[in-house]
Amino acid sequence: MQLTHCSVLVLISGNGSNLQAIIDDSIHSNYKVCRVICNKADAYGLTRAAQAGIPSTVIDHRDYGSREDFDSALIDLIDQEQVDLIVLAGFMRILSPKFVKHYAGKVLNIHPSLLPAYTGTDTHQRVLDAGEKEHGVSVHFVTEELDGGPVIAQEKISVEKNDTADTLADKVHIKEHIIYPKVISWFAAGRIKMESNKAVMDHEPLPATGIEVHPN
Ligand code: GRF
Repeated sequence: MQLTHCSVLVLISGNGSNLQAIIDDSIHSNYKVCRVICNKADAYGLTRAAQAGIPSTVIDHRDYGSREDFDSALIDLIDQEQVDLIVLAGFMRILSPKFVKHYAGKVLNIHPSLLPAYTGTDTHQRVLDAGEKEHGVSVHFVTEELDGGPVIAQEKISVEKNDTADTLADKVHIKEHIIYPKVISWFAAGRIKMESNKAVMDHEPLPATGIEVHPN
């Protein structure tokens, strides 16, 4: 089912370059960003939201005694909106099972590696240290397993001899800004779903590594 003007809420913690790519794409796409929520008051992503006229809310996790308390407050905030999709775009918080269950099948994350390889942080340096020839980015549904939810799409980059963690991060970011808006528009069109812990596109289960957006 096509969602008319799918309402997307974006969670960020920092720079928000993915948020920017999503905002820019939404202008001519089938979804709109209804609100940005951020857990860091000084995040540059908040300036990006303001410049685009998108309302934002800051909720600082340090004001809460536990992860569960913070996530309950986050749920209360989100549920004040009519939200079709929650997009994590550099949101540096692990979400509690309560949050993940509450929004099952409605939360996407972007992760800078070719999942299931290199979950967690510091992916670019770890890829270099392991001597990998390929690296990339994955968009996946969020489940209780950290960076372990079903993958919807991936895009690869090649690792060159002179690459550093910074150059890899830059190359991966360029791909992120293409792949994330694309997956969001598929979701908004009703083409992507999570069913029995699997990503499904156009009623067909996707392979474990999702769709390769731009095969070489
Ligand atoms: C991206 O590399 C994304 O893969 C990861 O966090 C980073 C966010 O970057 N989850 P930005 O804030 O969107 O620039």
